[in-house]
Amino acid sequence: VTAAPLRIAVLGAGTVGGQVVRGLVEHAGAAASDEGRPLELTGIAVRDVEGARARGLPSHLLTDAPAHLVADPDTDVIVELMGGDEPARTLVGAALQAGKAVVTANKHLLAHHGAALEAISRASGAPLRFEASVGGGIPVLSPLAGDLAANRISAVRGIVNGTTNYILSAMAAGDGTYEAVLRDAQERGYAEADPSGDVEGRDAINKLVVLARLAFDAWLDPDTIADRPASVRGQGGPGITGVTALDLEGARALGLTLRLVAVASRGDGANPSRTIRAAVMPIAVPSDGGLGGTGGVRNRIEVTGEPVGTVGFDGPGAGGEATSSAVLGDLLALARGAGSTWAGRPVAADSRSSTTTAADPGGASARWFAFLPGVRAGHVVDDLAEAAADTGTGVAIRTGWLPLDQLRSRIVDAAPATLDAQIYAIDD
Ligand SMILES: NC(=O)c1ccc[n+]([C@@H]2O[C@H](COP(=O)([O-])OP(=O)(O)OC[C@H]3O[C@@H](n4cnc5c(N)ncnc54)[C@H](OP(=O)(O)O)[C@@H]3O)[C@@H](O)[C@H]2O)c1
Repeated sequence: VTAAPLRIAVLGAGTVGGQVVRGLVEHAGAAASDEGRPLELTGIAVRDVEGARARGLPSHLLTDAPAHLVADPDTDVIVELMGGDEPARTLVGAALQAGKAVVTANKHLLAHHGAALEAISRASGAPLRFEASVGGGIPVLSPLAGDLAANRISAVRGIVNGTTNYILSAMAAGDGTYEAVLRDAQERGYAEADPSGDVEGRDAINKLVVLARLAFDAWLDPDTIADRPASVRGQGGPGITGVTALDLEGARALGLTLRLVAVASRGDGANPSRTIRAAVMPIAVPSDGGLGGTGGVRNRIEVTGEPVGTVGFDGPGAGGEATSSAVLGDLLALARGAGSTWAGRPVAADSRSSTTTAADPGGASARWFAFLPGVRAGHVVDDLAEAAADTGTGVAIRTGWLPLDQLRSRIVDAAPATLDAQIYAIDD
């Protein structure tokens, strides 16, 4: 007896959707495992049907009416690859409500409406899978929810945005200023025309919300996640916007580099299981370590838990082909009868009120790195720094464990009144 095919409608056929369609067309039938249902592509929604036809997408499957595909009783699974908020939110909600499985790569949708979509999915029993939403082609969410389910997770951290990692790597290699390297990244297609979602850290924050859902069984509010490092006189810029080529040169002189790192960890307050610390900001890491060694558009995510210890996942974090691997993997999982990506985990709390973030890091103790432009070695910091390097344009310092406020006041006392600089926590 041949199992009935799993009839799939793909909404959006751009960078990722185009590759998913290609995979479904080229490997139709062959992709299904022995016990799974065969995959059958039954519709593709885009805005510009003529344009999609000209790009070689199968003409007879194209429509500009995604809601019709969602409502069609002949559709079993909706693959949402349009991105953004609406109409993705309404279409995904309607599909789940109607009992249709959904596969999505849309981290914005999950980070902002994940709790509501999870509730709909649980009520109707329709699975929601989203492996591609974090780490592109890297299998990290299903292993976190499933294979690591026996662990008490204490932290997830990682490089989850390829655009910013490319920019930081290129700046560290001496390829130019932030502005010059960003322009180059846009020309190569690694950064969008409006890069703000990447460089200000919002894309990484959305991915952190998804990781935290699976690690800690709570949907965090993306708006409460800390997104900027401290500076000598206050706060730095969001994401990587305040990182200078001089910061990276100074870091290198001390064996360090800067990475935009998303981290969520279980708090150690009065009620640790209800408190999650979450931040996305540039930090200093050893150049030769796991995160420091992750260059270009690659991603790396590390999960720490008991009893496993620390497990690292790395690979291609974006790109149509790599990301289609995760989407197609989710479709094959559905064909085998798998449930939602969170199936290995308890029901999530909508814990918007219990999230704590590092809003006031002043009292926080850490080891710190800073590059102080125009300052000479021996002047400000000799007794404060564990290591210092004079690069000719200023001095790079690395401290031992120390409250941030103490470091700030020492620099302010000794440095020129106009000096400001970002201060980065060191993590290895
Ligand atoms: N690109 C990556 O490397 C990557 C990696 C991981 C996750 N993701 C996620 O995957 C999703 C898709 O990203 P992408 O890079 O493939 O985007 P994209 O290249 O901009 O493609 C979007 C597609 O959706 C269609 N679309 C948009 N709004 C629509 C509407 N209202 N009705 C019908 N069709 C609509 C577009 O149609 P037209 O072409 O006709 O306008 C286009 O085919 C996003 O959520 C993104 O965050 C992307």
